[in-house]
Amino acid sequence: MDTTDLVLAIFHHLLVFSLAGIIGAEFVLIRSDLSAATLKRLVGIDRHYGIIAMLIIVVGIGRVIYGLKGWEFYVYNWMFWAKMAAFAIVGLLSIIPTVRFLSWSRQASASPGFQVPAAELASVRTYVRTEAFIFLLIPVFAAAMARGYGY
Ligand code: HEM
Repeated sequence: MDTTDLVLAIFHHLLVFSLAGIIGAEFVLIRSDLSAATLKRLVGIDRHYGIIAMLIIVVGIGRVIYGLKGWEFYVYNWMFWAKMAAFAIVGLLSIIPTVRFLSWSRQASASPGFQVPAAELASVRTYVRTEAFIFLLIPVFAAAMARGYGY
């Protein structure tokens, strides 16, 4: 029994589910009418996205170093690196939506009649949809790597 491993695993799962919830919330909100209030909410949710993603990195690295299997189990496993790559791609894809949410919210506060340009909204929807799809691959790689596939 190892309490550190257990605590890290619990936090890892809670954080990962929170991130999934946040991507889901963004996905739903960008389908609705983007009023100034919704844009503010999106900016707030997106800020939590950043915080949770950083915590996942810290706890994830903690699992690699202090987990029961030892770091050698992961660093030579390509499923682990595929998981890391998928996570990095999700992070990179989230940059454009973050920049847009901030810019739209700023414009909506400055001019009350502001309408989000249709082309920008369509592109942000594509980014978030792609993010959600690639995010789904992460638990697939995680489950495989945890069971020793990927050498
Ligand atoms: C820097 C980021 C991350 C690192 C370093 C990391 C690392 C790890 C490690 C070391 C384990 C333990 C596997 C084992 O029991 O041998 C694990 C498990 C897991 N990770 Fe991550 N992780 C990261 C991000 C994520 C993300 C974003 C997700 C989102 C879905 C995720 C989902 C999972 C799942 C579902 C498991 C449990 C796998 C199983 O036991 O079947 N991880 N992760």
